[in-house]
Amino acid sequence: MIVYKTEDELRRMRESAAIVGTILKELRPLVKAGARTLDLDAYAERRTRELGAKPAFKGYRGYPATLCVSVNEEIIHGIPSSRALRDGDVVSVDFGVVYGGFYGDAARTYAVGEVTAAARNLIGTAEASFRRGVEQMAEGNRVSDISAAVQACVEAQGFGVIRSFVGHGIGRALHEDPQVPNFGLPGRGPKIRRGLVLAIEPMIAAGDWEVEILADGWTAVTRDRSLAAHFEETVAVTKRGAEILSAEDGSGTPAGSPKEQPHA
Ligand code: MF3
Ligand code: CO
Repeated sequence: MIVYKTEDELRRMRESAAIVGTILKELRPLVKAGARTLDLDAYAERRTRELGAKPAFKGYRGYPATLCVSVNEEIIHGIPSSRALRDGDVVSVDFGVVYGGFYGDAARTYAVGEVTAAARNLIGTAEASFRRGVEQMAEGNRVSDISAAVQACVEAQGFGVIRSFVGHGIGRALHEDPQVPNFGLPGRGPKIRRGLVLAIEPMIAAGDWEVEILADGWTAVTRDRSLAAHFEETVAVTKRGAEILSAEDGSGTPAGSPKEQPHA
């Protein structure tokens, strides 16, 4: 069952998602050679609690951390560890919070130092395909119009779209209906209408789309060990159209966070 949000609920979701966007923005300069993935996790957890929110992933089905940090052939659900990032790594950071009863969820993929041109294209295509998807998130369209647009963008670059993980509705639960695959034929699935909030999240691979789960029970890697990238935002259909609630400009940043403080 899809839970469409009221204007008041959308206001509250803007606040949760803005916390996600704010902290992801702060993480960006910390993703550099020598940083350990658990350092990023500790930073994100501390800032989440400072802003009065709770990590969404920690404890979710037993997941042990605040962030998912997935390096190179890791697609999603990489568990932060003492692994230090190295020049040339492709690093996906996925992060969610719950604040005032509502979840926000977003992911970015960063290049550490100098990466290959192919890696840069992969990272750019993950974001570009997300934007193609959002263009389809318009009243009257159907959910699979998003899926088809993402797939077309990714495959036009010769990359693979991961099949075994999907985007999702989001609200009072991290994962709500509907599922939002990143592939499929257009014109199928539920109609998009006002109050729909989705986490749209293309996961893509430089090679094939088959996935393996590592022995830790979480980390999803490409079976062919090709590089992967992930881009995700929490997006709502409002009276102004599709609105990216987790954008890093912090349009919905709640009071008490740095954006509201006067300059020194
Ligand atoms: N960010 C993931 C998603 O988009 C959720 C992470 S699952 C967790 O659905 F178990 F790692 F928390
Ligand atoms: Co998600």
